[in-house]
Amino acid sequence: MAVTRLAEAGVESPRADAELLAAHRHGVSRSKLHLVPDADFDPRFWDDVARRETREPVQHITGVAYFRYLELEVGPGVFVPRPETEVMTGWAIDRLTAMDVAEPLVADLGTGSGAIALAIAQEVPRARVHAVEGDPLAKPWTERNIARCAAAAPHTSGRVELHGGDFETELAELNGMVDLVISNPPYIPVGALVPPEVGEYEPTAALYSGADGLNAIRVVERVARRLLRPGGTVAVEHGSPQGSQVYWVFAEEAGWKQTRNHADLAGLDRFVTATWS
Ligand SMILES: C[S@@+](CC[C@H](N)C(=O)[O-])C[C@H]1O[C@@H](n2cnc3c(N)ncnc32)[C@H](O)[C@@H]1O
Repeated sequence: MAVTRLAEAGVESPRADAELLAAHRHGVSRSKLHLVPDADFDPRFWDDVARRETREPVQHITGVAYFRYLELEVGPGVFVPRPETEVMTGWAIDRLTAMDVAEPLVADLGTGSGAIALAIAQEVPRARVHAVEGDPLAKPWTERNIARCAAAAPHTSGRVELHGGDFETELAELNGMVDLVISNPPYIPVGALVPPEVGEYEPTAALYSGADGLNAIRVVERVARRLLRPGGTVAVEHGSPQGSQVYWVFAEEAGWKQTRNHADLAGLDRFVTATWS
């Protein structure tokens, strides 16, 4: 019944979403849902289904999003982290680990919920992450997640520093010192069609970036040039049709070497990395 209602509302994964809502409402993981006795069924589940029918994102209904080993608070005003970004973050974690730097210095440009910054702090021992966010509505979510992660994983405490402001100009004190710049910036072309979950619920500042969607990525290229030490690395996410354009944003500027395209789990072009010489 719930699955049919969500399917008829145009939800892309109606069974998974119905199960996620039921699991959250009953305080169990999705794989343990079958263990909940019928007598314990909570009828507020149907309120959650009704909200999802309006195409409100599952994560806004449950209030949480999962990102690598983290549980993050999300809701109106902040971008919901995506599985594609977990792949880029995993690449960055591997790269930082291989760098053999005692205290790797990282900049996360446009941190939103803090997903990338907090995952790096959790998984790379001694990394110090400077996270920049320009949207005043997103910042309270970042602050809550930094506090939440520090409580759950005390070794991350104090290792993520949030800077409110525009990443084009922030972090000048770190110029030429950073080991890794990472960013999942807005990259949707203005006017492009997006599903209701995105267009009606995600913050505009997290989505759109100029007629070709590449304005913020061009800024990330310039900022990475300013921040990175020689031999430092940049990783930037983009939309799947933008792989070739984003490759050239880096490759045509002097000073970048080893510019590479990388795919996500679906095999689609998803992020570009390059090394500052
Ligand atoms: C697509 S969201 C990504 C959020 C998070 N990093 C993630 O991967 O889930 C882009 C974020 O960048 C922020 N942002 C966009 N342009 C910015 C700028 N010039 N300076 C600072 N933050 C910016 C937006 O407010 C938004 O939170």
